[in-house]
Amino acid sequence: MKNLKNKTCFITGAASGIGKAFSLALAEEGMNLYITDIDIQNLKLTKKEAEKFGTNIYEAKCDVADINDWERSASDFYSKFNTLDLLINNAGIAIGGDLLALTLQEWQKVMNVNLWSVIYSLKTFLPKLIERRSGHIVNVASGAGIVPSAGPLPYITSKFAVIGLSEALFGQLNSYGINVSVITPSYIKTNIYQKAKIKYPQKLINEIGMERLDEISASLLKKMGQNAVSPERAVKKYIKGIKNDQLYIYDSKAILRVLSLKGNNPQQYETFLQNSFKQNEDMIKNHFLEFGIDIDTYYY
Ligand SMILES: NC(=O)c1ccc[n+]([C@@H]2O[C@H](COP(=O)([O-])OP(=O)(O)OC[C@H]3O[C@@H](n4cnc5c(N)ncnc54)[C@H](O)[C@@H]3O)[C@@H](O)[C@H]2O)c1
Repeated sequence: MKNLKNKTCFITGAASGIGKAFSLALAEEGMNLYITDIDIQNLKLTKKEAEKFGTNIYEAKCDVADINDWERSASDFYSKFNTLDLLINNAGIAIGGDLLALTLQEWQKVMNVNLWSVIYSLKTFLPKLIERRSGHIVNVASGAGIVPSAGPLPYITSKFAVIGLSEALFGQLNSYGINVSVITPSYIKTNIYQKAKIKYPQKLINEIGMERLDEISASLLKKMGQNAVSPERAVKKYIKGIKNDQLYIYDSKAILRVLSLKGNNPQQYETFLQNSFKQNEDMIKNHFLEFGIDIDTYYY
């Protein structure tokens, strides 16, 4: 989709981070937007800022994990706009930490918000896109959906699935005139890290206390975020990728290097996976040691 001017877009997770930056940049490109989120207060702020560019901006609550919200907001969308040109499935969450402490409900929550949201989105919008033989679907996955070197396991699982689904759709929907892209953000300065729920072994919670553990984790995430890219800068690359109708839209070449390692030298890739998990564990361990806590003694 070379020219975005006067086209329409439906986007999820537009109250914060990448979704907000996307909304503002697309409005600046001249797009008419239907922005959604569960955080209505901040969504209204996005709307207000986006309106400065002079296009039509509508906002609505859409919990992406609830098919009823999809159906309601899609019907409202079509009452405002005749056609949908760009559908951006962006909303996402992370829950991670101790594998054994993660509950099934937490696994399900991440899968519902990160993966089922995309399935609901397709179920809701695809019939009309196919009927019209045009449109562009953009799924925001993650670098963690290509290289599972660090990060929460439910998150990685959901993002791998979104990438597989996007690749398959890219092939399958081509004959219906529909483009599909998948964005694989690396490390972008947004609120997702502060909002992420981190699970700890019960013994650690009992001895240190949840509040203190959250403080320590927040300071670790802050340290890690020092090299993160701003969402505004990342979104410029993403829009370029959308205009070029690219399947994969990356913001970091590091992922490509690991992908080629996986293809060219599977044994080295195995070593890479083990080493990077170990490096991640060591970084967390050293951070906790700075606060006088040897977390190794709390894990199995
Ligand atoms: N920030 C990064 O470094 C990074 C890296 C890789 C992938 N991503 C992906 O980018 C996307 C956007 O995340 P972000 O970094 O901007 O985070 P963010 O937390 O700043 O924004 C996410 C938005 O999604 C909304 N949201 C959460 N649950 C929702 C639900 N059930 N229904 C509707 N909206 C919901 C939140 O209210 C929030 O406004 C996510 O899919 C995330 O996994 C981010």
